[in-house]
Amino acid sequence: MTTPTIELKPSSHPLSDAERERALASPGFGRYFTDHMVTIKWTEGRGWHDAQLVPYAPLSMDPANMTLHYAQTIFEGLKAYRQPDGTVATFRPDANARRFQASARRLGMPELPVETFVAACDALVKQDKDWVPTNAEESLYLRPFMIASEVGLGVRPANEYLFIVIASPAGAYFTGGVKPVSVWLSQEYVRAVRGGTGAAKTGGNYAASLVAQAQAAQHGCDQVVWLDALERRWIEEMGGMNLYFVYGNKIVTPELSGSLLPGITRDSLLKIATDLGYEAAEGRISVDDWKAATEDGSLTEVFACGTAAVITPVGSVKSETASWTVGDGKPGEVTMKLRKALLDLQTGATPDTHGWMHPL
Ligand code: PLP
Ligand code: COI
Repeated sequence: MTTPTIELKPSSHPLSDAERERALASPGFGRYFTDHMVTIKWTEGRGWHDAQLVPYAPLSMDPANMTLHYAQTIFEGLKAYRQPDGTVATFRPDANARRFQASARRLGMPELPVETFVAACDALVKQDKDWVPTNAEESLYLRPFMIASEVGLGVRPANEYLFIVIASPAGAYFTGGVKPVSVWLSQEYVRAVRGGTGAAKTGGNYAASLVAQAQAAQHGCDQVVWLDALERRWIEEMGGMNLYFVYGNKIVTPELSGSLLPGITRDSLLKIATDLGYEAAEGRISVDDWKAATEDGSLTEVFACGTAAVITPVGSVKSETASWTVGDGKPGEVTMKLRKALLDLQTGATPDTHGWMHPL
């Protein structure tokens, strides 16, 4: 398949410098969007075509657009980081591109070539580079996504799609600094089953999670933790993050069950932890294991990880029948060491020994 060339539409209407500065002064998460977006079309029989870098603008959509009815939609999340010399680099965009292809396969959508995905992200970041924050711990969050663009109500894969990349300056996902979150173990609702769409990054998984997230909030918790759908026993992941359990010098993350998202941060930490001299493994952790290992002191820390949330300590756990504090309820030493190592690598403070950074 040929890679379409991305052309810049001449009529651009960027926000004023003052508006951009205001957004960058307090970016929050997903509140402001940069001046441009990339769009690429796919049509049955023709493939990918019409790649454009255009001013950020609303989409006009027929009410019978298939995405609006049957949710054939997938997305990604990755970040561009300001480097010490002022240049910008993204973190493992090829890994996001491959996961995007896997999501597309699961949703019956066309696969975008890895190099086109990366080129689209590059083009947008280069064009809107002034939007990449310079403050430590802030970055430019890229949101590539694909929707069906065919009009019709027949239930089948669409024959037209639209791939778009937008970007948003990102501060902390959780406000208030590195503060442990409290989690609710959802027994009533499940996120995904094996054979379902849990390993794909598709909107429906997030829509289905919202009521459980609301339930977590009703119980005074920040986030929901999903258990496996069959036994309601094995820990899977959090709302938008994977989980790690720290046993002294060993860190363990739930193995990829087919129903949890294969996080790129999760994968990177398996390697970074090894670099730092920890033992890192994938395994199965039950709710009972979590509680028992907390009580006998062998489980010292728990943290969540993801692109948006980076690394966030888990401080306390609640379910219908029990509640407990993780470690001393404060950010743990291993959690904070891994967090620093990951951010240092992404922001160029330490050398990139894995070849993960993609300079622009
Ligand atoms: N799990 C879910 C459900 C997510 O939405 C995310 C975020 O992308 C993750 C895990 C972490 O994945 P990554 O580290 O690739 O951002
Ligand atoms: C991410 O970390 O990129 C996510 O997708 C999490 C959430 C914002 C959906």
